[in-house]
Amino acid sequence: MKHLLSFVLGAAALALTLGAALAQDAETIIKARQAHMRLVSFNLGPLGAMAKGEIPYDAAVASAAAGNLAALAAMDQGRLWAKGTGQPENDGTRALAAIWESSDDFATKIEGLANATAALADAAGTDLAALQAGMGEVGKACSACHKTYRAEKK
Ligand code: HEC
Repeated sequence: MKHLLSFVLGAAALALTLGAALAQDAETIIKARQAHMRLVSFNLGPLGAMAKGEIPYDAAVASAAAGNLAALAAMDQGRLWAKGTGQPENDGTRALAAIWESSDDFATKIEGLANATAALADAAGTDLAALQAGMGEVGKACSACHKTYRAEKK
């Protein structure tokens, strides 16, 4: 399983082409990537609550949510981040122009989340301590990207 996942992740990273031409209008793309982030966040929800002890640890729920998270993070995201869909050209997006100015580094941040969530998916069903350890790395991967590439909320 581990080997298959790393193969899939490698393929996803190679397929990421941030400069791809706009095949759909910017608003459609912006909505889709915000929806993707919300699904990521939705699956992180129960994992964060278990890690903090707000809800009891449940191995099956943790495994399923962490598996979803890893699948979402491994998805090819090239079209979600098509050039011309960020600030300042568009309203209704917090995606900063830096994404397209530093696209190699941005791709590294996407890969960082894919790696951290793959590790979490392996660990989350083991026990609470393993879940907590994996969550730390996932949280870092989210904020490493948001810090540089997402505008503050207005
Ligand atoms: C590779 C960079 C990157 C990573 C990694 C990343 N994000 Fe984001 N995230 C963004 C950017 C950029 C936006 C702004 C998108 C927009 O407004 O078009 C965003 C927006 C969001 C939003 C707001 C969505 C909306 O409805 O407007 C949420 C929630 C979110 N991220 C959660 C997360 C969580 C949780 C993680 C980690 C598990 C994460 N993100 C990882 C770059 C990233």
